[in-house]
Amino acid sequence: MPTACRYRNLVSSPQNIPVPQQARGIIDRYRAFLPVSDATPIIALGEGNTPLIHSPRLSEMVGRDCDVFIKYEGLNPTGSFKDRGMTVAVSKAMEHKARALICASTGNTSASAAAYAARAGIPAVVILPAGKIASGKLVQAVAYGARIVAIDGNFDDALRLVRELGSGGDFAVVNSINPDRIAGQKTAAYEIVDALGDAPRLHILPVGNAGNVTAYWAGYRDYAQAGKATQTPVMLGFQAAGSAPIFYDKVIEHPETIASAIRIGNPASWKSARAAFEESAGAVDIVRDEQILEAQSWLARSEGIFVEPASAASIAGLFKCCRETDARYSLKNIAAGSRIVCTVTGHGLKDPDPFLDRLAELKPVPARIDDILEVIDLSSEQLS
Ligand code: F0G
Repeated sequence: MPTACRYRNLVSSPQNIPVPQQARGIIDRYRAFLPVSDATPIIALGEGNTPLIHSPRLSEMVGRDCDVFIKYEGLNPTGSFKDRGMTVAVSKAMEHKARALICASTGNTSASAAAYAARAGIPAVVILPAGKIASGKLVQAVAYGARIVAIDGNFDDALRLVRELGSGGDFAVVNSINPDRIAGQKTAAYEIVDALGDAPRLHILPVGNAGNVTAYWAGYRDYAQAGKATQTPVMLGFQAAGSAPIFYDKVIEHPETIASAIRIGNPASWKSARAAFEESAGAVDIVRDEQILEAQSWLARSEGIFVEPASAASIAGLFKCCRETDARYSLKNIAAGSRIVCTVTGHGLKDPDPFLDRLAELKPVPARIDDILEVIDLSSEQLS
């Protein structure tokens, strides 16, 4: 195929300039698995192709020659995994001549919807729970020019209102209740199998509205059916203890957690997530806020990977499976030499609040070497 035709519509490259491999989005790379056709105008920002980082420390902690990998979704264009689904949802919305997009959000969906709407040249309306959105995410939605409405209510209220507004036909809803979002998010599973040569034995991820666990499970099944993987993984999801409707099997009217992205009491994809856990012989479990923050800090300081609190729920979950006897899933169930993937869903800069207190402690000193060395205070033991 000549270059001009092959790269039509992609990342808005001038038609005669090829787009480098790493700048191509998920639709271009996984077109055969996605609900797009030649009639679909592709709205892309080069999403996906995120790093799958081996963690020697987590591997050692699990032991028995297992290998742990971290799928770092914070490196998508707007800093979260939502971009994978959004490129498909917005491309399809444009194919159907949508005039505006709408979503409810705990933050990341709004940032992603706003960016892809800007790219498509149509308005995005985002409905957010007032006072509950991490600053980095709200700033993104403002920067991309979204019309932002804060409501006196939580995410579940916002999603209910969005469903109602979407049914009128004026807005294309781009929450994960839109199947095009799930289709796009499946590509993270494809990438993992492509990188490892097969599916991992165990996959761990945070659960909020439960679209992502649904998408990963569908993606792994697609690849097994297509003969690209010999197995599907056990799916293990972690909810925050104060926002754990699937774990407790009941709607939580007033969900609470420091991990605002997963502060959800009535997940839209509850049933499909439950099916993913059951069919994969996995489980849904909970982690407390202090465990989430400990894992977030540990990951930044020990592995150089800075993620937002909700994302750290998967790492906190792995710690729980290793350390605690009340974990719903025991790592003893997996064979020696197994591969484990933890998805970390969003970038740490989106929610810097847990670290801002430490910044406040930063007092200036005179610009002299002696004063600087005194503040650094590295003991000889630390230096060696
Ligand atoms: N991690 C992050 C960083 C998220 O933003 C979300 C969801 C999840 C995990 C959970 O994924 O909902 O598919 O189970 N954020 C949504 C939003 C709800 O509005 O941005 P899920």
